Amino acid sequence: MTILMIGSGGREHALIRKLKESPRVSRVLCAPGNGGIACDAQCFPHIAATDIPAIVALAKSEQVDLVFVAPDDPLALGLVNALQAEGIRAFGPTKAAARIEASKVFSKELMQKYNIPTAQYAVFEDAAAALDYVRQQGAYPTVIKADGLALGKGVVIAQNEAEAADALQAMLVEGKFGASGRRVVVEECLTGPEVSVLAFTDGVTLAPMVSSMDHKRALDGDRGLNTGGMGTIAPNGHYTAQIAAQCLETIFLPTIRALQSEGCPFSGCLYFGLMLTPQGPKVIEYNARFGDPETQVVLPLLETPLIDIVDAVINGTLADIDIRWKDAHAACVVLASGGYPEAYEKGKVIAGLDASGQRADAEIIHAGTALVDGQFVTAGGRVLGVVATGESLSDALDAAYAAAAQVTFDGVHYRRDIGSR
Ligand code: AMP
Ligand code: GLY
Repeated sequence: MTILMIGSGGREHALIRKLKESPRVSRVLCAPGNGGIACDAQCFPHIAATDIPAIVALAKSEQVDLVFVAPDDPLALGLVNALQAEGIRAFGPTKAAARIEASKVFSKELMQKYNIPTAQYAVFEDAAAALDYVRQQGAYPTVIKADGLALGKGVVIAQNEAEAADALQAMLVEGKFGASGRRVVVEECLTGPEVSVLAFTDGVTLAPMVSSMDHKRALDGDRGLNTGGMGTIAPNGHYTAQIAAQCLETIFLPTIRALQSEGCPFSGCLYFGLMLTPQGPKVIEYNARFGDPETQVVLPLLETPLIDIVDAVINGTLADIDIRWKDAHAACVVLASGGYPEAYEKGKVIAGLDASGQRADAEIIHAGTALVDGQFVTAGGRVLGVVATGESLSDALDAAYAAAAQVTFDGVHYRRDIGSR
């Protein structure tokens, strides 16, 4: 079968490599793709992930059997609806179901209505009213979130009233995030270890994947600016079997039922960003898609062919398949451009990869790379994910770091403490 992957990051590269493990997958296309993906799929670099008419046309002209919509923006724009309207099979939620990520107000109201544990909150469009509420609460830090998608930058943890006032001013008055920041959620700051749990769901049945841990800050010791994610490990040691059972009963299944009740059942991969607070697990955020770089460590532990699960999700038959996981550990170390997440240069030649952008000692997942005259060069902030598995977490980390040290480019920067929390 022929699959069209939408997206251009490490998550999409990891998904493509996993899908290709099955002999049922004979051909993979990707729009727009990247330098490393070009070694595993036929890329269409001039078709943006958000260009709905061009993607529908490509799916038709190439007679693809299914389209896998991986990033948040095309999901929020309704790419899955547009494909379904043309009779094209698609993996991913409809526009209405994707609101669980695309609107924080929608997700908070859903959780409140269906008693799903999350931080207490209030919604504002007016900066003065929001600041009054912050003063009334008088509890710092306090969390201020833009309602809509903001490239992972729409959350401010304000340590005092002045920082809260600045964030509210930027979002509600100066329009820093455009329409995404016209409404804000002000919420209670939770504490505890963070866990990411991705789950396959066809709207009725839900199958959680192995848990994982992201490392969002740029520098060792969780210092520096927030990034898209500097590394991941799976499984997450804080997420015990008992906590998993509790999350299934109090969060995962209630969320699936809530979306059914609201008339927008969710089909695809639902991402639960959880915090294990002293009062029990609570939802920090939902994403309507696979996480990046969580996908890079979760998929290597999946034993069941991914394509079989994807088919079952689309067909609504997830209850009929048995999903098996390896009893092992995985680690991903992200190699970033110098300066990321602030300004950085592109076009640096990457040394230490073979002609297909891989290495024998680890799996290399390409995020921001381009292939220019047969050479891989940097083309983004997060450049590569170096992924390894092992019987123990330290085996996986040792292997990933040993391989990471062999891959170099001018300005390369990575965290040395992935998985040490
Ligand atoms: P989000 O974009 O919603 O994932 O938020 C980004 C990060 O901000 C999360 O991964 C958390 O580390 C942090 N965060 C978000 N909401 C809260 C909260 N209510 N309490 C504490 N930390 C939070
Ligand atoms: N790693 C977090 C995300 O994909 O949103």
